[in-house]
Amino acid sequence: MEKYIIIGGKKLNGEISVAGAKNMALKVFPAAILCQEPCLLKNVPEIEDIERLIELMQDIGVKITHNCRGEYFVSTKEINKTQLKPDLVKRLRSSIMLAGPMLARFGEVTLTHPGGCIIGQRPIDLFIEGFQKLGAEFNENGDTYTLHAKKLKGAEIILPRVSVTVTENLMMAATLAQGITIIKNAAMEPEIIALANFLNEQGAKISGAGTPEIRIEGVKELKGGEITIIPDRIESGTFTILGLITNSQLKITNCEPKHIENLLYSLNKAGAKLEIGNDYIITYPSQLKGTNIVTHEYPGFPTDLQAPFTVLMTQAQGLSLIHETIFEGRLFYTDILNQLGANIIMCDPHRVVVNGPTKLYGKKLVSPDLRAGMALILAAMIAQGTSSIENIYQINRGYENIVARLQQIGADIKQIND
Ligand code: EPU
Repeated sequence: MEKYIIIGGKKLNGEISVAGAKNMALKVFPAAILCQEPCLLKNVPEIEDIERLIELMQDIGVKITHNCRGEYFVSTKEINKTQLKPDLVKRLRSSIMLAGPMLARFGEVTLTHPGGCIIGQRPIDLFIEGFQKLGAEFNENGDTYTLHAKKLKGAEIILPRVSVTVTENLMMAATLAQGITIIKNAAMEPEIIALANFLNEQGAKISGAGTPEIRIEGVKELKGGEITIIPDRIESGTFTILGLITNSQLKITNCEPKHIENLLYSLNKAGAKLEIGNDYIITYPSQLKGTNIVTHEYPGFPTDLQAPFTVLMTQAQGLSLIHETIFEGRLFYTDILNQLGANIIMCDPHRVVVNGPTKLYGKKLVSPDLRAGMALILAAMIAQGTSSIENIYQINRGYENIVARLQQIGADIKQIND
């Protein structure tokens, strides 16, 4: 079994470069389905989730060439089926991102209920409702869903709650619909703006991306072109926390600090010493104090940075209330932190109180999900002694070549197979 072995207590130094954004790349590959001509994708992170998505797309006939590290050529004109392979769909929540583009371009898609991180219920009702609003017919047979629409029709869609992937899916589907679509209460993540810009360059007519109201005027077809994936803001934030938690001077390069303003606000409140440039952040050893956070849709505090921030707060002086509002199952890893020596009290599934600082001790661990898995790496890196982390597939899903990149800045981490 593959696992990470980490010896804690090492100071880090040097530079770590941020990879392309997972949660943008996972939408741009599907966006290529909307395009008549091939697309060239650059700065794609080399991670397991992308590999799974590529397998899924190749299975329906998409031609994907891996030109070099981070660069993929995607041609969708030979797609020969509209049924997505169930075992692959079950491994990847983002397989749902193929639904909108497939429906818009081919008028049909069949898929099973998507899998992914177990961080809450993660239903798909809002996708289905949205597609139905655009005129699609929905049929359900056990956990297999089929959507049909000869031609999607523009509509006004009000989302009852803000959802990133629902916003992106409906935005993509509406680009080829007849007429105008308005999405109200849309998500506003930077990845959505970048996706809209790419689609507009290919001929789409989208305005308002990055605001709560997106307007899409349907067009007959999209061309194809080149896109560079923006830096991963969750990696940027995680590495900033890594520098602080290890009391290191660490430079995080190739990042967009303005995409993590809310994290930087909270770190500043906690007393973190940071130098922030246009595309870099430098961390300095800092005395931290307990700080409360509430996760919120962008531009609020990102739920994907909640776990690393919580680990950081185990080393801060005093109490921190961590309030996770997006997912109902995203705080259970705090029990694992307690086994390492943290003092965290769960108030309810959405709130924990961290009482710091506490010394952590290395242990045998199992990664529960992607972001909590990364948080366990951070914890192991400051724990006394050796930790092992199993179920590392969950971490490799979202972080490119993480062992080598951490080794390069001085971490004592290795991957073994026993
Ligand atoms: N929701 C519904 N019905 C739906 C869809 C969503 O009730 O049909 C609920 C979800 O259960 C959740 C809330 O809406 O409680 C908001 O979730 P959202 O739909 O925004 O999440 P997502 O689109 O599934 C994306 C990211 C997540 C990130 C969240 C929140 C991708 C591929 N995933 O998920 O990333 O946590 O937005 O920012 O973009 C990760 O990278 O580790 C990850 C989980």
